[in-house]
Amino acid sequence: MTARAVVGLQWGDEGKGKIVDLLASRAQLVVRYQGGANAGHTVVVRGRRMVSHLVPSGAHHPGVECVIGAGVVLDPAALLDEIGQLREIGIDLAGRLWVSERAHVVFAYHKALDQLQDSAPGAARIGTTGRGIGPCYGDKVNRTGIRVADLYDEGVLASRLAASIAAANDRLVRAGREIFDLEATLAATRSLAERIRPHVCDAEERVAHAIRAGREVLFEGAQGTLLDVDLGTYPYVTSSNAGSGGIPSGTGLPLRVLDLCLGVTKAYATRVGEGPFPTELRDDVGSRLREVGREYGATTGRPRRCGWLDGVALRYAARVNGADGLAVMKLDCLSGFHPVKICRAYRIAGAESERFPAGLSALERAEPVYEELPGWDGDISRSRGIPELPSEARHFLSRTEEITGAPVTIVSVGPGREQTIEGRLR
Ligand code: IMP
Repeated sequence: MTARAVVGLQWGDEGKGKIVDLLASRAQLVVRYQGGANAGHTVVVRGRRMVSHLVPSGAHHPGVECVIGAGVVLDPAALLDEIGQLREIGIDLAGRLWVSERAHVVFAYHKALDQLQDSAPGAARIGTTGRGIGPCYGDKVNRTGIRVADLYDEGVLASRLAASIAAANDRLVRAGREIFDLEATLAATRSLAERIRPHVCDAEERVAHAIRAGREVLFEGAQGTLLDVDLGTYPYVTSSNAGSGGIPSGTGLPLRVLDLCLGVTKAYATRVGEGPFPTELRDDVGSRLREVGREYGATTGRPRRCGWLDGVALRYAARVNGADGLAVMKLDCLSGFHPVKICRAYRIAGAESERFPAGLSALERAEPVYEELPGWDGDISRSRGIPELPSEARHFLSRTEEITGAPVTIVSVGPGREQTIEGRLR
């Protein structure tokens, strides 16, 4: 196997960081292909909790090269902050972190516009992370964006930045917000550009070369399939292709590149921000899941909405990604819940359906049809093999597998690297 992908099958926060970190020990390159500093990938190494936003989760392995691909939106200041924080704990990225010249740059005005847009009266509030992601991707698609390569072309940078700042200021002034000064932004940008320069390269070529040379490459998805701009619960989505479909365009590789796609899901469901969530629990069970699972955003600290595992959405996400296997995370958090539930169908306007609907109002009206399974008690965080799990937990996993149509290949029973069970159920 040379090229594997780890993608989220829910609304993000599935625990991809832990899985990438685990698989990165067997990889030579870890590649981010979409999203930006909106991501928050948590890894616990030797009891220490570390969150990365832009740097791929493989950074914690000294020999692994990390690539930020063309499909990512790059906030240079956030990247430098993260590089500095990693250096403080002894992780040096010099000579092994590569940033695509084709990636688009997130500027401070993108963040100001993000916050403005998401609080505008009358507009649908998405509950974004405020990291400037939507406005930056908007500029990209509108062909007014600035790419990393442009940072080193003074004429292009000055003229494009002048146009973008004028357009942003126009909107900010009308909303009574602070505006941006072109000269100050240019000076700050030149300085940031110089500092990231050692990392900038033709990252697409580097990854293609690694694959041709038979090196192990891991693609790290950020957010989740249900937040994918094309396949998620639009418009309550992020602005990129978070599913495996984002890999070819976000890295410049052909479609056939992937040898394996691993889909990551929690044993229950969470969502941050607004948007439909059919299995959401607005009761004590939901609050208990939030507390047991410590469900607070890694990037924004916001409490996450919690609910039962949604098998309808999971089956859809596994299909559109071509998931070859499932990593089921946080199984330990379900201990003590009686019963545990999995949604196997939706009831919409009185009719039962196993299809994940595209329409927003259908999703908002969807009532979950649950399968109730016997729960289990006790601490399972020390289990290191499938046979050590209580039979009820094994039954839950096998129903998840059957409902989703993809085999469970990894089960996580705690945040630590060692709290991971690899292997099939049967
Ligand atoms: P944006 O990506 O900041 O534009 O936010 C769009 C939606 O995606 C919001 O509902 C965010 O809460 C959600 N979102 C973005 N990044 C993440 C993530 O890494 N985990 C979970 N939700 C996210």
